[in-house]
Amino acid sequence: MNHTSIIGTGSYVPANIVSNATFEKIVDTSDEWIRTRTGIENRHISINENTSDLAYEASVRALDDARLSAERIDLIICATVTPDYFIPGVSQILQRRLGCDAITAFDINAACTGFIYALEIADKMLGSGDYENALVIGAETLSKFTDFSDRNTCVLFADAAGAMVLTRGEKQSIKKIVTHAWGDLEGFLRMETYPLKQDFLTVEDKRPFIRMNGREIFKFATRVLPETIRELLALTGYDLHDLDLIIAHQANKRIIDHAAKVLAFPPGKMYVNIDRYGNTSAASVPLAIDEAKREGRLAKGELFATVAFGAGLTWGGAIIEL
Ligand SMILES: CC(C)(COP(=O)(O)OP(=O)(O)OC[C@H]1O[C@@H](n2cnc3c(N)ncnc32)[C@H](O)[C@@H]1OP(=O)(O)O)[C@@H](O)C(=O)NCCC(=O)NCCS
Repeated sequence: MNHTSIIGTGSYVPANIVSNATFEKIVDTSDEWIRTRTGIENRHISINENTSDLAYEASVRALDDARLSAERIDLIICATVTPDYFIPGVSQILQRRLGCDAITAFDINAACTGFIYALEIADKMLGSGDYENALVIGAETLSKFTDFSDRNTCVLFADAAGAMVLTRGEKQSIKKIVTHAWGDLEGFLRMETYPLKQDFLTVEDKRPFIRMNGREIFKFATRVLPETIRELLALTGYDLHDLDLIIAHQANKRIIDHAAKVLAFPPGKMYVNIDRYGNTSAASVPLAIDEAKREGRLAKGELFATVAFGAGLTWGGAIIEL
């Protein structure tokens, strides 16, 4: 059968932990403000490991969990907005480092929804019957693109990687997956790039940074999170009561609390680890899935919904049975 079965997960964060107290020293903020407005207490900021290093460690753990050797992987998709290089992609670096054959490997950019998009692509490629085992990763070193003098963003973003191994099998783990986009022409959430060289002589070297209109993104996120859960339930026929857990993208604890309230879903069944990791963009969902599994919050056969949203604007989600 050309079904997609999830057979392993893994995650990795750099060792360096940065607490809210550090930000009190560099911008006009406080531990109290960050905790109460975002739910974040600590985050991991990489000192010398790049995105592919974090992705490699998460992948090794996921392959280990799946009890599958890297030679058996024939598809790697890495969701990232912070690759080591524009080219080569993180997925191509991983192909060599993991010791895979000359397989299909590519990166995608759908910001914080990247892992959901990558999962949808892998699910459909495995479903075609042309691929056997896929490694899907979300990995970021957002600290590279963070302006540490901008209090609106620097307290939020951080570094991590999460990975999942999928195989073509008997069981369809991914019950339904949806993805959406609505172009952010207003610039509510942007990671800048280099300016066009209109004058070869005078364009100054400008570092690209993340810029955000927090209020607009908050409004967007609080709308699409419950909307996507309702959409998934309507498409599958499942009921909220069927869900053992909701794993939302970890962008702000208040966004997660708001979703629980409007859906009338038990807050204790909304997974939260933003207090320890901050917002890790495409890594957030696979990191949370792996942690929920390891903490015993998700067991084999249990059903959960995952939803992500972010720059692009992009959003999407899935209902998954482990
Ligand atoms: C960024 C965010 C935490 C700000 O919280 P908020 O309660 O909405 O705060 P507001 O945006 O209304 O700003 C209130 C004030 O706090 C200030 N502020 C922002 N960051 C601050 C910080 N780290 N410390 C102290 N004050 C801060 C703002 O400058 C603003 O001041 P002003 O009124 O003088 O202009 C919140 O808007 C948010 O989480 N937005 C979504 C962000 C997100 O999810 N992004 C990623 C999507 S993947």
